[in-house]
Amino acid sequence: MSNLVNVIIDGQECTAKEGEYILNVARANDMFIPAICYQTKCSPTLACRLCLVEADGKQVYSCNAKVKEGMNISINTPNIEKERRAIMEVYDVNHPLQCGVCDQSGECELQNYSLYMKVDEQNYSVKDVHRPTAHWGVMNYDPGLCIVCEKCVTVCKDMIGSNALSTVKRGADALSAEYKASMPKDAYAMWNKLNKNLIGFDEDKCIDCGECISVCPVGALVSSDFQYKSNAWELTKIPASNPYSSDCSLLYYDVKHTSIEKNTEKSIYRVTNDAHYTSLSGAARFGFDYLNRAQKNEEAFKKAVESVKNADTILFNSYITNEEAKILQLLKEKLKLKLVNEDALKFQNFMDDYSKVTGKSLYNGKLEDIHNSNFIVSVGSFLKSDAPAVKYAFNNAITINKGAGLYFHSMGDKHIEGFGKKGKTIETIVNKPFSEDSILYFILDQFGKDLPTELEEYLASKREQRTKTVVETVKESVTETVVDEATGESKEVTKMVSKKVPTEVEYTYTTLLDLIGADESLLETITEMLLKKDTYSIIIGEDCITHPKGLKIATLAAYIEKYTDFKVIVTPTQTNTLGVSQICDLDVISTGKTVGYNIKADYQLSALGDGDIDMPPLNQQEGTFVNIDKNLVPTNAAIQYDGYTLNDIANEILDYKAKYTIDYTQEIFNGVKFDDLENHFTNDRVEHRGYSIDFTEETVGVEVPDLKEHFTHDKVETEGLGVNIKELESLQIINTSSSALEINEDEYIIYRANPINQFNEFTAIAKQLQKETVSLYISTTLKEKLALEEGDKVAVTANSATVTLDVKIDNDLVGDISYVPTFDKNVDTKSLFKNRLEVAKLRKV
Ligand code: SF4
Ligand code: SF4
Ligand code: FES
Repeated sequence: MSNLVNVIIDGQECTAKEGEYILNVARANDMFIPAICYQTKCSPTLACRLCLVEADGKQVYSCNAKVKEGMNISINTPNIEKERRAIMEVYDVNHPLQCGVCDQSGECELQNYSLYMKVDEQNYSVKDVHRPTAHWGVMNYDPGLCIVCEKCVTVCKDMIGSNALSTVKRGADALSAEYKASMPKDAYAMWNKLNKNLIGFDEDKCIDCGECISVCPVGALVSSDFQYKSNAWELTKIPASNPYSSDCSLLYYDVKHTSIEKNTEKSIYRVTNDAHYTSLSGAARFGFDYLNRAQKNEEAFKKAVESVKNADTILFNSYITNEEAKILQLLKEKLKLKLVNEDALKFQNFMDDYSKVTGKSLYNGKLEDIHNSNFIVSVGSFLKSDAPAVKYAFNNAITINKGAGLYFHSMGDKHIEGFGKKGKTIETIVNKPFSEDSILYFILDQFGKDLPTELEEYLASKREQRTKTVVETVKESVTETVVDEATGESKEVTKMVSKKVPTEVEYTYTTLLDLIGADESLLETITEMLLKKDTYSIIIGEDCITHPKGLKIATLAAYIEKYTDFKVIVTPTQTNTLGVSQICDLDVISTGKTVGYNIKADYQLSALGDGDIDMPPLNQQEGTFVNIDKNLVPTNAAIQYDGYTLNDIANEILDYKAKYTIDYTQEIFNGVKFDDLENHFTNDRVEHRGYSIDFTEETVGVEVPDLKEHFTHDKVETEGLGVNIKELESLQIINTSSSALEINEDEYIIYRANPINQFNEFTAIAKQLQKETVSLYISTTLKEKLALEEGDKVAVTANSATVTLDVKIDNDLVGDISYVPTFDKNVDTKSLFKNRLEVAKLRKV
């Protein structure tokens, strides 16, 4: 794929990657080919046929035809123009005349292309059928407007991994045979398909991400919240970054005034994205409607300054900008206070240990590496909730690259099982709780090259030669006597026949599979999966970062980077975990008087408007984040904020006085000013968003861990299962002696996880994300086992805390582990957890 070829498009010489579609090559070279149904990074649907071009004298669809060395391509020929004109005319058959009220008007591809192709008359007609509108999850579907381009179906399958949309029968009369003879061939084929289909919806599979709304070229799929609220051209697009997860994907806050008297009073009407470059989670798309309309109050401000000056500790999370992190760090240095952020500290410690092996301060992979891989492994991430963009990349890669993947998690997830096309594309392995270390050893065992001797010896100690009986087909010669019917003579005939024979074969087993809790068939599955695979990525999730054996897991993950062909992507847990961990010098324990930034404390700064003084939420702030790809990316304020900021408080304390918070941008990493940061993609799909932070420099002054002791120790501890993890005093980054949770008969394991589209206290209050609540999410199996029904109340007790929660059934969940969310600050479920997995008592009340 990396070989370059030279092609000529409309007389212009272009260089392209071998295997690239003609359409993408033309776009990368700023040449326009009409196209409606192609969705970048997804399989071509070949529905619209507008992208016809002539390549070396043959008509081909440019979204599906790959460039070849020396290819000569013409975008327009008289025949192609005739086809395109007829296609657009057909698309306009029976299309309702409601552009005046349609949400898509002004950004509608049907409007645009009808004008572009100069459709000013209609030569075709067909009797239509009644097509009632429908309300589906977060959207409304109007089949009267649907042009059945199948982009929604494709993006849901190839990118999101939900498969919630499909084509269904339209029930219309067949087209008149006369058209076949009288109209251009492609236009007829397109119409014939269009006239047979509509789109159907499976509510159980939909995760309310809204990506199908984003790709719909017409007004057929629209956000039910946004519908009829505004014309597209009245909205101002503010480029920003996803404030909820570390993909920090580029999004736009579409903003408009709310008052005709004061043009300054504005609201966010919707969030949009350019789906050709990036996809959004439902949280990023629909969790935008909290705003802090704060006003200044001098008395309150003085108290805030005093509280910070007198504080011993500032508590905060990683849903803040780099600039705010920098201010907190400067406050720490000036006031000698403690900075406590458990999330960023765990990540920081994980990467410190990781870098001792690799010599680089961060991991080597990016989201794009996952998209480009054909073999992907995920370890320790509840992917669909923890990191939607990583999940999309995983699904996209195994679907589009004829790839395969392994998903290791202690909770089975049918949503993930549905990834990829038919066949052996994904294997989900429900691993034993806290067995992530064994999984990483297993990956090293299967894929490691030139491993350090101690590690190799350890892995060898886990291997066993075993035999098994397999049925082989052998050819055998059989001689039979046959009688010639005509002559009655007998003669002997010898022929080869196939015979199934049981055979004993020797194979290498690793007892690591027992520690993981995986079936030995996994070894064969991997062998099958690896056929024709050459590009590998591994996702290291939050369960690894927060694992009680943090140091060991980090070391093992780093060995994978160093001694295998995998690109390693460690998933930062919150939006700016990576940025905070790079900027702040963090403390383990808080002491004395506390000030909390969006965290409960003696004195609270709150962007939710419920603390002692207001702060701006992320959609009302300018600043930067460091995303999962290690890029510093900018975000802008959608709506003006009139209250005080952290910078205002810092200006009363620090010697450096910054007029705006973003004056600190140039103080971070490489000194670029905020206003000089780019935030867009170009037609060649290259990202121009901020800059890549330098993580490649060799870390100095570190000692590589003593491997010998490390692995010797492991032999004891991985076999010493059964020590209750709760006995361990500190759950900081220490090497514990436990690999599994000990549970009694009346106990169950609970897992700390939010439901899809919920991340924190801001998504908790977003109007369109109210579907999920803080409940005990259980599988249907556990529901039967505990004789529970949806809505029952259960007292959950763990770590000496008890919280009563409603029961909710998650139909995708497999197994006995239930999960408990922590996104709502009004329900104290955090106290149930010291680790991500805990042993709990569940009692129906
Ligand atoms: S709903 Fe929109 S995206 Fe889906 S097939 Fe219809 S027109 Fe295309
Ligand atoms: S909202 Fe997302 S999951 Fe649901 S149908 Fe659309 S693309 Fe699929
Ligand atoms: S874009 Fe190629 S067929 Fe529609």
